[in-house]
Amino acid sequence: MRTQVCIIGGGPSGLLLSQLLDRAGIDTVVLERRSRDYVLSRIRAGVLESGTVGMLEKAGIATRAHAEGLPHTGTYLAVQNTGFRIDFDALIGKQVLVYGQTEVTRDLYDAREKAGGIVIHDLDGVELHDLDTDAPHVTYVKDGTTHRIDCDYVAGCDGSHGPSRQAIPKDVLTEFERVYPFGWLGVMADLPPVSHELIYANHPRGFALASMRSPTRSRYYIQAPVDDPLDKWTDDAFWDEFRRRLPHDSAEALITGPTIEKSIAPLRSYVADPMKWGRLFLVGDAAHIVPPTGAKGLNLAVSDVHYLFEALTSHYRDGDDHGIETYSQTALKRVWNAIRFSWWFTTTMHRFPGQESFDQAIQDSELRNLQTSVNAQTVFSENYVGMPY
Ligand code: FAD
Ligand code: PHB
Repeated sequence: MRTQVCIIGGGPSGLLLSQLLDRAGIDTVVLERRSRDYVLSRIRAGVLESGTVGMLEKAGIATRAHAEGLPHTGTYLAVQNTGFRIDFDALIGKQVLVYGQTEVTRDLYDAREKAGGIVIHDLDGVELHDLDTDAPHVTYVKDGTTHRIDCDYVAGCDGSHGPSRQAIPKDVLTEFERVYPFGWLGVMADLPPVSHELIYANHPRGFALASMRSPTRSRYYIQAPVDDPLDKWTDDAFWDEFRRRLPHDSAEALITGPTIEKSIAPLRSYVADPMKWGRLFLVGDAAHIVPPTGAKGLNLAVSDVHYLFEALTSHYRDGDDHGIETYSQTALKRVWNAIRFSWWFTTTMHRFPGQESFDQAIQDSELRNLQTSVNAQTVFSENYVGMPY
């Protein structure tokens, strides 16, 4: 088989890139290791930056996001059970959209199907070849048979454990990493959210986040040891701990009940540099990971897609390779800003093992500064809503 751009990974970044390129008349094949149902069963991000929504519009898949997503013009932060609000709309005239990654991915799969796009599922053994030549190719195994795809470019959209990043020689790649000494225990519950906007809470017992997927579905998290056995966290144990960390008025309003999903995720920051090698581009989680505190993971994947889409369309339409040559530097500039914001927000909101009274006092002071300074709130809003591309 031959295509112009072979895309490895059918998560949000691979599908969005495929959808945009298709609309620009550029041919793609998407290789996804898992089944479509499996990809759609993964519960992940929930907050879309305004730029991300713009990209969904550009891809022609924003109708349901606009109809069912929840626009949020601000968010609550809390310290020691007292909350305050940051009003993005009043400060910078922007908002975010609460619409789950699962729904974005579903909309993308539906669009690719309608357009007759090629997405090959349930495969194994993806290998990338001749990336440093003008004629790269990708091989994979499906139903015991090895297949080959010749292409002009390879887009590595295969997440943090995929083969694309591994294909860059070790002496070319620089890796940056910070592992945080805690995880997030997350639950999903078919219960009305405790607040109409998100609450990020700093508490001496640890961080908590109240988020949502819809007016009837809540998504809640608490900071917990990453190796805690899940069976320690019965629903009752979760609700008791979550309630303790919320602002007092929210704790009183909290409606509890059975949870429908429960898992613990580790937190880390990671960047691979460069994001381009020969004819290979890394996109999204294949190149970088952020802790979820800033809600940046999915949004960063989408901004990478933006830069790569612009670069590839300039190449095919105008014969201009400037965007291709500078993809890594351009994408990494925005990536590092999100890495910095997510690291800062994580560091400010969580309880670290061995944390002393000095550290807690600095966190309290940081949050008091945010509560009282319009300038600090403006900087927070710009970063949370997302920097322009
Ligand atoms: P992925 O979504 O990881 O997609 C990569 C795709 O590549 C997958 O479908 C995978 O099956 C496929 N693949 C992997 N290996 C191969 C292979 N060898 N061959 C073919 N296909 C392959 N972000 C937030 O902002 N908020 C959150 O709450 C949040 N929660 C998260 C929870 C978890 C458990 C994880 C892992 C991530 C979370 N994120 C969150 C981050 C966010 O979901 C990611 O940033 C986003 O999914 C990145 O999209 P992607 O398409 O680059 O990668
Ligand atoms: C979520 O709803 O899953 C979510 C929201 C905001 C975050 C992280 C996760 O910062």
